[in-house]
Parts: sequence; C-alpha cells; structure tokens
Amino acid sequence: MTEERVVTGIAGLDEMLGGGIPSGQIIALLGSCGTGKTTMSMQFIWTGLQKGEKGIFISLEEDEAAISGNARTYGWDLGPFIGNKTLTLVKLEPSDAKSTISRIHSELPAYIKQTGAKRVVFDSVSLLSMLFDNDSERRQGLFDLCKQIKNSGATAIFTAEVKSENPNVSRDGLVEYVADGVILLRYNETSDGSDIQLSVRIVKMRRANHSRRIKPYNITNKGIEVHAKAEVF
Ligand SMILES: Nc1ncnc2c1ncn2[C@@H]1O[C@H](COP(=O)(O)OP(=O)(O)OP(=O)(O)O)[C@@H](O)[C@H]1O
Ligand SMILES: [Mg+2]
Repeated sequence: MTEERVVTGIAGLDEMLGGGIPSGQIIALLGSCGTGKTTMSMQFIWTGLQKGEKGIFISLEEDEAAISGNARTYGWDLGPFIGNKTLTLVKLEPSDAKSTISRIHSELPAYIKQTGAKRVVFDSVSLLSMLFDNDSERRQGLFDLCKQIKNSGATAIFTAEVKSENPNVSRDGLVEYVADGVILLRYNETSDGSDIQLSVRIVKMRRANHSRRIKPYNITNKGIEVHAKAEVF
C-alpha cells in the first residue's frame, strides 16, 4: 500500500519526496537564517489553501500583518483565506514563556480539531525550545507537541535554525529526532566565491522512499523553486 502524500506545491521538492510529504507526518525544516524556511513552509500552507485544505500557521517571530505582508511579496494573498477561516495565523508571544507553553498544550490540539486543519506550520521550533528551562523539559515539550499534532492527523512542518558551527544539525539538537522527516536547507559559496548557491537535501523520511541527492533551489518572487533535474556544482 502506498501512503497518501501531501504535496508541498514545490514541484522539484515533491519529486524529491517521491510525491510529497507522507500524510500525517511531521517534517523538521532546518536551515540557517535567510535560507527560506518561512517561505517554504508558507508555500506548503498556500498550496493547501488552493485545494480548499485548512491551515494553521503558528509563528513565534512575526505577527499576523508581517506574515501576510511577507506572503504577499510572493503573490500569495492570504486575506480572503483568513476572512473565511480557511487559514488561521497565530502569533505566540515568546516573552511570556510559561503561558505560551501552556497555551500550546491546552489549546492547540482542540484548535486543530475544531478548525479541521490539514496542514500546520510551527515557525520556529527553535524559538519555542528556548522557552523551556532545561533539556528534559525541552525534550518532553517537543515530544508532547509532536504527539498532539500526530493525534490530530494534520501534516506539519516545524522550522528550525541550525547551529552556527554545524549547519547540518538543529540548534536544539532534538527536533530532527522527534520529527518523522528532515529537510535541510543550506547555502554555499560558489567555487569562485562570487555568489551563493542554495541547496536542499532530504535527510530522512520515515516509512517512505525519497531522493538523497542534493538539489539547488532559488527563492523567486513566486516562492521557492527546486531544480530537481539540476546538479549542485
Ligand atoms: N519576493 C522575494 N523574491 C525573491 N526572494 C525573496 C523575496 N522575499 C524574500 N526573498 C529572499 O528570501 C529570504 C528570506 O526567506 P525566509 O524569510 O523564508 O528565510 P528564513 O529561513 O525563514 O529566515 P529566518 O531564519 O530569518 O527566519 C530573504 O533573505 C531574501 O533573500
Ligand atoms: Mg523565518
């Protein structure tokens, strides 16, 4: 039996994924700042909206206006979808750690169920991680969040920043273990040092066949474009 796939809407990435994200899975989207994590995860939500699938975009970084404004630069007008409640944008205030964490635990599962969201984005889980007092609470907190989303049946992307000394691993060192899949975004200087090249790699994907090749991508005014046929040089 082939598992149902949830397309990201980024053609080259869906090809690398073997059709899309396996339905119900949680994907950790790792990358350093400016690699396009927020853009890629919003594109995933936008693709769902075009299909009439409800989405929740939870941000610890930007408020509703900033998220919408950002999306508009790619030609994605979120307004009508917010208006008819197909899309819910949630801004969590990281200044109040305790209430943020308890809100997530107490309200999110009911919220996903109540809205019937099929796609959920958490941007970023690195900021959430920093709210916990210690490693064991952090581990438990992330684990609980995953379990709640899994129970809801939604397919999710958690964005995460990478360590500055090692751009292959997340800053909290946890999210790649609790997630079902890991997509890694990187930028490298071209060999002559005159430009940078963005590249994407699927590090893991539970219960699914996928490409392990590293592929180049661009951030354009229509969002992310992955060049699955091209090679990174
Ligand atoms: N309309 C656009 N057209 C082309 N490129 C854009 C456009 N808007 C933003 N970008 C590029 O995308 C980058 C930001 O992407 P994005 O915010 O998704 O990255 P991020 O990984 O979420 O970053 P951060 O770690 O800061 O949250 C910008 O630095 C810019 O280079
Ligand atoms: Mg971002």
